[in-house]
Order: sequence, then C-alpha cells, then structure tokens
Amino acid sequence: MKTAVLGYGTVGKGVYEMLRSAKDLEQGPVLVRKGKADEPWKTDDFDAVLADDSLNAVAEAIGGIDPAFDYAMKTLKAGKHFVTANKALVAEKGSELQAAADESGAAFLFSAACGGGVPLLHNLALSQRGDGILKVSGILNGTTNYMLDRMQRFGTDYEAALKMAQEMGYAEADPSADVSGLDALRKVILAAGTAFGILPSGGLHEGIESFTAEDIRFYQSKGLVLRLIAQTERTAGGVSCFTEPVLFPDNAPEAAVLENNNLASYEGRCCGKISLMGQGAGRYPTASALIRDLESVLSGERRMFPEGLKQAEADHDSVKRRYLVRLPEEAKEQLPCDEVQGKEGAYLRILTGAIPVNRMHEAARKIREKGGRIAFAALEE
Ligand code: HSE
Repeated sequence: MKTAVLGYGTVGKGVYEMLRSAKDLEQGPVLVRKGKADEPWKTDDFDAVLADDSLNAVAEAIGGIDPAFDYAMKTLKAGKHFVTANKALVAEKGSELQAAADESGAAFLFSAACGGGVPLLHNLALSQRGDGILKVSGILNGTTNYMLDRMQRFGTDYEAALKMAQEMGYAEADPSADVSGLDALRKVILAAGTAFGILPSGGLHEGIESFTAEDIRFYQSKGLVLRLIAQTERTAGGVSCFTEPVLFPDNAPEAAVLENNNLASYEGRCCGKISLMGQGAGRYPTASALIRDLESVLSGERRMFPEGLKQAEADHDSVKRRYLVRLPEEAKEQLPCDEVQGKEGAYLRILTGAIPVNRMHEAARKIREKGGRIAFAALEE
C-alpha cells in the first residue's frame, strides 16, 4: 500500500523512516512546506500527491485544522485511506471526516492522535463492538507528565521542565495546548467518540499552569502525587468529558507513571478495568501508531468511530469530587469547605466537600477573572 506522508516535523520524520523499512507498506512522497522540497522524494504540491493513481493512503502529521482539514477531505473524497495523528482535527472535524469516509469507503483511522504509541483508541474501537464501555480515564499528555515528574522527583522548576519537554520533542508547537490541558481534552474527546459514539462539545480543561513549587512540596508532605488526568464516562445526563489535575496516594499506579509515559484505562461492561501504559509522546512512539493504523487498513479496518456517531454537549453535573484548593482567603465562601489545611499569607489551602466538576471549574474561572490566583486538584478516592 503506497502511502504519502503529510508533514516532515517530529512525527512526519519518524513515519518516513518507519515506512522505508516496513515490509508491506510502500513509501510515497512526503509533503513539505512551500519551497522546502529539497529532495526528490519531497514535494510541496498536495494536488500532485492526490493525483498520483498509484497512491492508496495518506498519513497526516501536519497538525492543526488548516490546511489539514482540506487535505483530509480531499483524500477521503478521492477514496484514499487517511490515517492521522492530528487530535485537533479529529476532535473538531471528526463527524465530517467520518461522513466523507463513509461515502467513499476509504478508511479513516486516528489511533496515533491519542496516547502516542499506546493503543488506547485501537482497543476502545475493538472493545466497544463486543462489550460496551462505561468509562475511559488516564494520563494522556506526555509533556505535562514529564514536567510534573521532573518537578516532583528532581525539584526542576516549571519553565525549565517545559523547555526540557520541548527539547525532547514531546510538546506541541504551541505548548500552551499541553500545559492548559487542552491537548489531553482533545484526546479524551476522541476516546468518547470511539467508546460511546458521542463526540462531546463543551468539555472542561484545567492544566498544570497554576502549580508552584510550594504546592508540590505541600502535596508531597501529605504523601500525594500530582498527575493530569483526562476522563470521560457515561453519566445520567449523557457523557462527561474533562481534564483536571488529580492527587494520588504515592503508592497508586498513576504515581509510578514517570517521564513522558501515558497510563490509559477503560472499564468495559464485561471485561472490567483494563490499563495500558507506554510512551505517550515523541517521534517514534507516535509514528509507530500511524504505521499500526496503516497495517490495520491492510487487514481490512475502515473505521474507529462506531456507526451513527453523534455530537452532544458534555454533562458535568453528574460527576462529583472533593478538591484540594489553594485560593485567596476572601474567595473561600465560593466553595463548600470541609477542612482548612493551611494558611500561607493571604491564601488558604482548603479541602472541599464533594462537588460537581463544573462547579469547581466555574469557581476557578470566576476567581481568576477577578485577578485571584487559584490552584485546584481533585482527590482520587
Ligand atoms: N504534545 C503531546 C503530548 C504529543 O505531550 O502528549 C503527543 O500527543
């Protein structure tokens, strides 16, 4: 199966190298930016790529919506298979792309867009057919896990940890998507689409930007380890879909997830809880997932989203959690306080009662709007 690669950045280079040595896949051209086609196997003309009748598939590693969406639609409408590592594209345009794939009969696979090399979506797609999935959750962003790990085990400061994650090729071109939790939210939207056939809109995301070295030391003094968790589950009101920092006891499996690793778990109706762990970011882990999807196409796979994919507003009223919060003393009344755990200058550390996820995120938004600083993390219980 002759495959073109779109993009020659961190992931695109990995796919190019892996394609060259794959047994049953054939290397097609690599699309690069205008004026950068400085090798015979590179091109800057997408229409010429598409016009090549010998080409069966396209592996996309450009990222972003524009021009990736245009390329994806043209590929699928031309009846060529499309595999992608682009989370933003699939989270935002997944329904349209799936419809185009359904119409032409081409494959649309995107397991590389969630979990790097970890085959979470691949397994969700299989499990939802025969079993039924209730919940998906886990560490789905390698950059922030790497940063939190550095900050907790080595005392590295936030900026230095981010720079290291960028140098390792884990971070997005704009790392604000990583540290704000948006990247992990996009991934868990794909998990919801694959597991439940529902692409949720209005998902909530809180990242790791608010945490200080003092916060980390405070958590460590209580035997707690901070991780950024993405979660989606079936609820009374549909499906929830959010990312937020969570504190785990230091002997929990999540606390043992180091470096750029991801730990993704899902609960099947019959199979119970299954966890998958591995490198969630980086050139070769992500490239390997794109190659895996191309191999799946060869085995006859055509889709990851179940038939009848719908879009729906996420439900955040039904999931309740207790939060450990650092907030300005004057903002204390905005949350139900079960216990004051500390006072540092004008700031309190409080433990809330069990509150809906959206109440916590909304309170943080209001406090920040007024210029207050707040950091919150759910307690894993
Ligand atoms: N920036 C992403 C991460 C890359 O750190 O997880 C892999 O999706």
